[in-house]
Amino acid sequence: MIGAQWGDEGKGKITDLLSKSADVVVRYQGGVNAGHTVVVQGQTFKLHLIPSGILYPDTECIIGCGTVIDPKVLIEELDQLEALNISTRNLLISETAHVTMPYHRLIDRASEERRGDHKIGTTGRGIGPTYADKSERTGIRVLDLMNPQGLRKQLNWTINYKNVILEKLYNLPPLDPEAVIEEYLAYAERLRPHVVDSSLRIYDAIHRKRNILFEGAQGTLLDLDHGTYPYVTSSNPVAGGACVGTGVGPTMIDRVIGVAKAYTTRVGEGPFPTELQGTLGELLCDRGAEFGTTTGRKRRCGWFDAVIGRYAVRINGMDCLAITKLDVLDELEEIKVCVAYEIDGQRCENFPSSARVFASCQPIYKTLPGWQKSTAECRTLEDLPKQALDYLKFLAELMEVPIAIVSLGASRDQTIIVEDPIHGPKRALLHADGTPVSV
Ligand code: IMP
Repeated sequence: MIGAQWGDEGKGKITDLLSKSADVVVRYQGGVNAGHTVVVQGQTFKLHLIPSGILYPDTECIIGCGTVIDPKVLIEELDQLEALNISTRNLLISETAHVTMPYHRLIDRASEERRGDHKIGTTGRGIGPTYADKSERTGIRVLDLMNPQGLRKQLNWTINYKNVILEKLYNLPPLDPEAVIEEYLAYAERLRPHVVDSSLRIYDAIHRKRNILFEGAQGTLLDLDHGTYPYVTSSNPVAGGACVGTGVGPTMIDRVIGVAKAYTTRVGEGPFPTELQGTLGELLCDRGAEFGTTTGRKRRCGWFDAVIGRYAVRINGMDCLAITKLDVLDELEEIKVCVAYEIDGQRCENFPSSARVFASCQPIYKTLPGWQKSTAECRTLEDLPKQALDYLKFLAELMEVPIAIVSLGASRDQTIIVEDPIHGPKRALLHADGTPVSV
């Protein structure tokens, strides 16, 4: 399951729904920059690293090798769940995932400040610097944490090296290696029972014919290789990232489910052609409670962009789509959908690779009538006002992908299941109006 936009598509709720049919749920990229809000029986859970599948007692949850783990935050999440009597014994952590250290957080924030007008608008959680160390081959992995003697040696060297950067480049005070080592050794002992060879674990589960859900964080447009570079995160949220980030071969993945909001949001810097600046943007933000789970930042809001939608279908090889937060549009008299861009006077139907060109794109809109009725209580497609159904149909046709799920609110029951997204026939799913799709 992947995000088809810039993250925050409501994947938390969809994972929660899909987890019911999954024996194993696996995170494959990102770190504590992500945030899932799940509401179950009126209780709100905010999770950053632990897959929301943990709320099901028999579901195994795995944090894969492509993620970056901030042990402090992970332990806080474990504490939060345990305080609510939710068992965390089914949480497993890849021994080859990289670990976010205090210097990563410091460097992330300091480098953003240094960038000035060129800042990315990161979450400040040390994500970029953790992945940079992974590529530079100076990273600390979970299995390093599990070896106290080796860790002492490795961290002494690394922290002295990072202190040069902190002091000389950013004018920050140096870190005390001993204090960091003691702190992380304590984290290691708390996490030790959860640490496994996760690739082997997943392979075994595949052989036992278990249902495995690979849960993407962030979204396609934030992908390091395929997103709006440089305004992206440092990992690969696209479906292909699930293979690298877990150690599972591509032939073993059966289907790809995309999640998109019925409109678009973005947090942080970077171009956003369908962004709404005025009262309409505010209305979407208010009705959609568009504030980040991780940083509390206000999300930028705009109309649905089918150009990036089509791009996400292509890049992810998407089989079907979940549309979330349709109810946020309930009050609107009319709704716009971006069907193409105008670039230098030319119509363009494809997403441009360059952030500079993307910033110059003028959206070409099709305006549809709103329904001006509450959809919050609808449970089948037939319950929806005609205009709402037409809106969904239009999105499915534009993106050439069938809609399998429609979400109309935060609760589990505020959902229309059009077609079983896990067991339903692959690519033989239906458009929102019931007509077959041939993709
Ligand atoms: P980083 O992942 O903290 O390095 O931030 C890079 C970019 O990705 C920034 O624009 C962030 O706002 C954005 N970003 C990171 N994680 C999320 C997320 O979970 N939802 C939405 N945006 C995110």
